[in-house]
Amino acid sequence: MENELILRTARLELVPAAKEHAAALFPLMSDDRVTAFLTWDPHSDEAETARVLEGLASAQARDAGYHWTIFQNGTAVGIVSLIDVQRTHRSWTLQRAEIAYWITPQRQGEGLATEAAEAVATCAFDRLGLQRLRISHTSANPASGRIPQKLGFRFVGTERRFFKKNDRWHDMNHYELLIDDWKPGSR
Ligand SMILES: CC(C)(COP(=O)(O)OP(=O)(O)OC[C@H]1O[C@@H](n2cnc3c(N)ncnc32)[C@H](O)[C@@H]1OP(=O)(O)O)[C@@H](O)C(=O)NCCC(=O)NCCS
Repeated sequence: MENELILRTARLELVPAAKEHAAALFPLMSDDRVTAFLTWDPHSDEAETARVLEGLASAQARDAGYHWTIFQNGTAVGIVSLIDVQRTHRSWTLQRAEIAYWITPQRQGEGLATEAAEAVATCAFDRLGLQRLRISHTSANPASGRIPQKLGFRFVGTERRFFKKNDRWHDMNHYELLIDDWKPGSR
């Protein structure tokens, strides 16, 4: 399954995240510009990055989450993920997940997060059996909000005081996309 989940786009190769990527990703994952709005803090050494990547790989093995290291011309530039994969809840069928992403500051503003997220949405709907995707971003991070907008997600609403990081409370904007409305390549 792992090899089948290598995704290719015009400029990028998305490879299931693995601890072998630690040396390439540690310089990026120790950068506080990357983590400013994320659920984790900058890594302090490469061993921490390797442990985190091992956890991400094990999430994929359990169908709990899917994480890809984003390579451009062989250089790691970020990670894109399907997190919070929910298949069922008691007698309900859910088949939903959230797309999350980060790109190294050196390569932001080139459309890479949008290109990676589009490939992941296609994989989620066509290969992983998901029906509904969400993307959420804080109001303080409008660049992140451009990705769901550019991919045709629908704005659902804003949850206020959703989380606090670095002594600041953040409102969270939510977007959703249903498989029926997915038009890959329509951007
Ligand atoms: C959010 C992030 C992933 C975007 O990655 P990226 O590869 O630069 O994204 P793209 O180039 O595909 O699109 C970025 C869009 O945001 C826009 N943008 C950039 N800075 C902006 C700002 N301050 N205000 C509004 N829009 C902004 C860009 O112009 C672009 O939109 P456009 O194509 O309409 O011009 C990247 O900035 C990042 O990794 N940030 C740190 C981690 C993070 O916050 N992740 C998301 C958590 S919700």
